[in-house]
Parts: sequence; structure tokens; C-alpha cells
Amino acid sequence: MSTIAITRAPSATLAQCQLSFVDPQAIDLALATAQHQDYCRALGELGCELLELPALDAQPDAVFVEDVALVLDHLAIMTRPGAPSRRPESPTIEAALRTFRPIVSIQAPGTLDGGDVLRIGNQIYVGLSARSNPEAIEQLRQLVAAEGYVVTAVAIRDCLHLKSAVTAVRDDTVLINPACVDREAFAAYRQIEVDPQEAHAANTVRIGDRLIYPAGFPRTAQRLQDAGINLRLVDVSELQKAEGAVTCCSLIFSRS
Ligand code: GLY
Repeated sequence: MSTIAITRAPSATLAQCQLSFVDPQAIDLALATAQHQDYCRALGELGCELLELPALDAQPDAVFVEDVALVLDHLAIMTRPGAPSRRPESPTIEAALRTFRPIVSIQAPGTLDGGDVLRIGNQIYVGLSARSNPEAIEQLRQLVAAEGYVVTAVAIRDCLHLKSAVTAVRDDTVLINPACVDREAFAAYRQIEVDPQEAHAANTVRIGDRLIYPAGFPRTAQRLQDAGINLRLVDVSELQKAEGAVTCCSLIFSRS
């Protein structure tokens, strides 16, 4: 069963992206594009079949494809992103997903960003953030309950999305920044904490038993390696200036 990764090249307007917890800095678009290409290469090396969508230049944040959809085993859910400027990103992603899954959508007044959704097995954790609200979480709960998923809302602080604060590195282990989310919310898992000097280091893409991990967090990378985890490092410095992280840049799911 193959693994699909949907990606989209950075927009020419990337510098006009939404920023919430990151100060504005000049973004080198050519470097961002090269870094994104290496990220796509990493997805391929780790076994993904890439579906690369063309850039949407009118939508500055469109490279962050994760936020507009949630792909589960039996269906895909279009999320209705919390930033209204991001909603026009949805139709092309929906068209791409239609080949693979039946589609349903979060309805107003619900808002949900995929970056707030962390799935570990049949557990779906959703960050209560400025982008994702309780109405959407309740809709999600009802959409997935019949398939046995358990949806849990999680409070976060001082970060954009839940997956800025915590991601899974194994079935039983999370990488967590306790400054942004309470450790108790993930008490069911072994926990690897980010290095306190690396505030944005909790976001990683897991594919099988390997991680795609940002090159800018060497102390946390060492902690992961010390735990026996194999990393494919990517330099995503320019995408981080746009408040993006490695999970944001792909939608990864099994073909069937
Ligand atoms: N710049 C990413 C976001 O705010 O959604």
C-alpha cells in the first residue's frame, strides 16, 4: 500500500503570509523554493509518492497544505481554516483529494486548521487555538466517531498550532514542548522534551520509523538520535520565517 504526499510549491507572495507568533523577517523566495524542493526529496526518499500541486500565487500561505484538510483512512475532511485569507486554498486540495477519499467539510461557525490536528492511532487530539474552535471539534467528533476515533480537545499556549507544541515520533512516544502544552494531556505516551533553547523544535513529520526534522534544532535532534530515532534533516529556515513547519508542508496518507 503506497503512501501519498500532497505538496505545493511556495507562492510568489509567500512574504505576505499570516504571522501570529513569529516576528516578520525578509524571506528569500528562491531559497524557500529550494528548501521546499529538498523537503519534497526527503518525502520521496522516505517512501512517499509525491503529488506536487502548482503554486497558488494569489494565496501567500498555500504552501502549507496541511491546514486545509485532514485525511483519515475512510474519508477526507476539508477543514475551513481559521484565517479567512486561507480559505481560497481549499478547492484545489479538495479536487486532489477527491481521487482518494470521499470528502466532507467542516461547516460555519466551525473553524479548524490541520496543524491543530494530531492523530496517533485512533486518538485524534485537536488544539484549541486561535484557528480551531470547539464548534469544529464537535463536528469532527461526530464525523469520525463511527470509525472508532476518539477526539480530544487540548489547550495550547504561545504557539500557532497544536503540532507546534507536540508531534508523535513513535506509536508510543511524543516530542513535546511543555512551555506550549501541558505534559499531562499526553500522559499516555512516553515523552521526549524539546531542548528549552529550541522553542519551535516539537514539529516533525514521521514516516514509518523515520522522521523528517528541521536542521535548525541540533540539541533536540541529538535527543531524538539518543532515543534511537533516525532523522532525515531538512533546512526549512525560510519556511519557518513564514511560520511554517515540516508537518504544514504536506498531506500524507495511504493510497487506499
Ligand atoms: N503562516 C502560516 C499560517 O499562519 O497559517
